[in-house]
Amino acid sequence: MTGSQKRDVVVGAGSGIGCALIHRWIDSAARPVVAIARSPSSLEHFEPFDLVETRVCDYSDEALASLAEGLRDDNVAIERLVICNGVLQGEGYRPERAVNQLDAHAMHRVFEVNTFLPMRVLAALTPLLKRSEAPRIAVLSARVGSIGDNRRGGWYTYRGSKAALNMMLKCAALELRRLNPSAKVLAYHPGTVDTPLSEPFQGSVDPSTLLSPERAAEALDKVLAETEPDGELSYLDWRGDVIPW
Ligand SMILES: NC(=O)c1ccc[n+]([C@@H]2O[C@H](COP(=O)([O-])OP(=O)(O)OC[C@H]3O[C@@H](n4cnc5c(N)ncnc54)[C@H](OP(=O)(O)O)[C@@H]3O)[C@@H](O)[C@H]2O)c1
Repeated sequence: MTGSQKRDVVVGAGSGIGCALIHRWIDSAARPVVAIARSPSSLEHFEPFDLVETRVCDYSDEALASLAEGLRDDNVAIERLVICNGVLQGEGYRPERAVNQLDAHAMHRVFEVNTFLPMRVLAALTPLLKRSEAPRIAVLSARVGSIGDNRRGGWYTYRGSKAALNMMLKCAALELRRLNPSAKVLAYHPGTVDTPLSEPFQGSVDPSTLLSPERAAEALDKVLAETEPDGELSYLDWRGDVIPW
């Protein structure tokens, strides 16, 4: 793409992991970063940094279309795209321990954020990914979305939303293979990371295995740098190890 503006893009820039990644990328000064979040307050602390272009987005269809249009008008070529949005619990719902705790409203909320939103973001940005040189795309999934690795059960909705995300990412990777063979898509497990999402559940986590957001960002950066386009979706953890589907 001639005269393009190379950018790294982080969606869900208010997340613990996304925020640490943006700061890491500011320090490396490789190229400007587009940071996207729902609320201006999540983006305020990036204001002092010239390398960060902040965009508030409520993730409605209209807002996503307008975001994509703005990036296209700025002739942006995406180098790295990381989508961080995800919820494990919220107002009035927690991860289920038993099937009788399933709640339709909670299931909709979790699938909306964990599965549908990342796919809607990808749908909006696919025209840009098509014309970018060799975009590396990581969508934050989770190891608990693995069917093969599920030995303990529970967390029905969170697990299901990430497994469904993985399947939809597989479709996207296969489609992107035709549109841009140099693109690479990852369904990525960041490790157990010390963020608001994991905080209520850290009691059962061995402290030596809990990653800081900065360490998680370093690992994600490394996995993204080492990944090669092969027209496939890879399901990788923070060590770069393959997770069974
Ligand atoms: N922390 C862990 O141990 C861990 C382990 C495995 C996988 N993950 C995955 O890693 C990703 C990032 O998690 P994190 O630990 O950094 O969590 P976090 O700090 O709690 O961030 C949550 C993210 O989800 C977004 N979000 C929350 N509610 C939303 C809603 N209603 N609509 C749209 N977006 C919403 C936020 O968006 P804004 O930025 O727009 O506010 C934010 O980007 C998630 O997908 C999570 O499932 C985390």
